[in-house]
Amino acid sequence: MLDPDVVFLNHGSYGACPVPVLEAQRRYRDMMEREPVRFFMLEQEGLMDRAREAVSSLVNCDAEGIGFAPNVTQAVASVIELSGLGEGDEALANDHEYSACLSTFQRYARRTGARLVKATVPFPSTGEDQVFDAIMSRVTDRTRLALISHITSPTAMVFPVGRLTAALKARGVEVLIDGAHAPGQVPVDIGAIRPTYYTANLHKWPSCPKGTAFLWVAPERREGFEPLALSSRAHLTRPDRDRFRCLFDYVGTDDYTGFAAVPDAMRFMASLEGSWDALMARNHGLAVAGRRVLCDALGTEPAVPEPMLGAMATVVVPGVGLPSGGTAPGRYEDPLQERLVERHGVQVPVWSLPSAGLRLLRISAQAYNSIEQYEYLAGALKQELAAERSA
Ligand SMILES: Cc1ncc(COP(=O)(O)O)c(C=O)c1O
Repeated sequence: MLDPDVVFLNHGSYGACPVPVLEAQRRYRDMMEREPVRFFMLEQEGLMDRAREAVSSLVNCDAEGIGFAPNVTQAVASVIELSGLGEGDEALANDHEYSACLSTFQRYARRTGARLVKATVPFPSTGEDQVFDAIMSRVTDRTRLALISHITSPTAMVFPVGRLTAALKARGVEVLIDGAHAPGQVPVDIGAIRPTYYTANLHKWPSCPKGTAFLWVAPERREGFEPLALSSRAHLTRPDRDRFRCLFDYVGTDDYTGFAAVPDAMRFMASLEGSWDALMARNHGLAVAGRRVLCDALGTEPAVPEPMLGAMATVVVPGVGLPSGGTAPGRYEDPLQERLVERHGVQVPVWSLPSAGLRLLRISAQAYNSIEQYEYLAGALKQELAAERSA
């Protein structure tokens, strides 16, 4: 449904949901609205289980360990609130983590006396070893929980989550992987990574309807694990269904039809290039080629080695990276983003990595994008940066 007048290069923030998927969701909505009580009491659980099966086959985990949430922001908050960290305990994150997750950790820390430690991960990056060393160097005897993005939001780096998880668990640290961007962008194998928690959005790269995310909890942590808000069914004992699933299936009245459409989205996306692997390979190739076009236009070198990219890439842009919030509250973060949208019709994020003092631009490559769009962006960018220099 994307506006044909917009060159849309930000699938990473808010992806496009394909029309056949929205049509499927519409059918589930009709089902809900025709007989709402039957839908919520009799039909919804089965639809959630179908979604579980579809997710478990994409990311290789047991379906019973999957709880649903409307987005990663809320799934991460559930883990933090139930982490049990107290006075003197440390949670380890880094300067590439998503701001909502860091803010929730900070609020929890203020209330409990736990401490949030932020590793500095260099950007531009020489590679995975540098990321691994930067994070592991901040582990102490007090570290209880680590939050690590599978693919970072501002810098689009694929972190070595398997290696990090193994090393952190060996030091007695529980690991929460924020995979908001990972499924559908890179192959995800939770069974191989073996984290304590893995959460991801379905409304980003799997292109499911908005408001769909999941949280997988390792078997040793599943007992007693609960969502932030408890369901009206929380006090019921169900001989036919485990408590973990019951609590996460229904957290109050809401539109759960996005979850009902998850199998439809998975089938549709996999059909585009014949398989998920083929789609991910196509999008990776396009992101790499798009980054090359931008680096050539800017006269810069790629900021991270190609194997650390999925279907997004971040380039360093000349100029000062503005602190989050930008100069004009309520508008886009950086005025350059505003000019690219308003003068050239390109929707692409321009933001910053404050710890490195850098101004960054991130491109996404999804099935509907083409190389000509990055070439057009490169031209627009050169024009706007020249205008900035002469202003
Ligand atoms: C790494 C990362 N974590 C979490 C989120 C939050 O996702 P949501 O807005 O769906 O909660 C994002 C969103 O872009 C993200 O990039």
